[in-house]
Amino acid sequence: MKKKLLTFLMGTALVMGLAACGGGDKDTGKDTGTDTASNDPGAKIFDQKCSSCHGGDLTGGMGPNLTKVGSKYSKDEILNILANGKGQMPAKVVTGDDANQVAEWLAAKK
Ligand code: HEC
Repeated sequence: MKKKLLTFLMGTALVMGLAACGGGDKDTGKDTGTDTASNDPGAKIFDQKCSSCHGGDLTGGMGPNLTKVGSKYSKDEILNILANGKGQMPAKVVTGDDANQVAEWLAAKK
């Protein structure tokens, strides 16, 4: 009986250890729901498709800062950029509903 309990405890410790190790992969696209930004579908799409160039916090990287892009462009203008590309930015990174959601989300960034 005692031995069984010990095995159980060790098993639990092992599982907890593994869970702790797996906690570091925040930006692999696996969403744990802890990130507040991920509640918005537009934010999620941005995170997956745009953040590599524009930065996870929209402050820019290879692409420009988009934190105030909504005061520069309307949703339609952003949709147009997404459909046609702009300078170094490729066209059709996202299309359809995804484009619509991310454009709406960005247009609100003022
Ligand atoms: C391969 C890198 C790359 C990716 C991926 C990318 N962009 Fe861009 N984006 C750029 C670059 C570079 C520019 C600047 C283009 C220029 O003005 O010459 C830009 C410009 C923009 C602009 C216009 C900004 C301005 O002030 O004129 C918007 C809006 C934008 N991107 C949105 C997005 C969205 C939304 C996504 C994801 C669906 C995305 N981008 C994905 C590189 C990227």
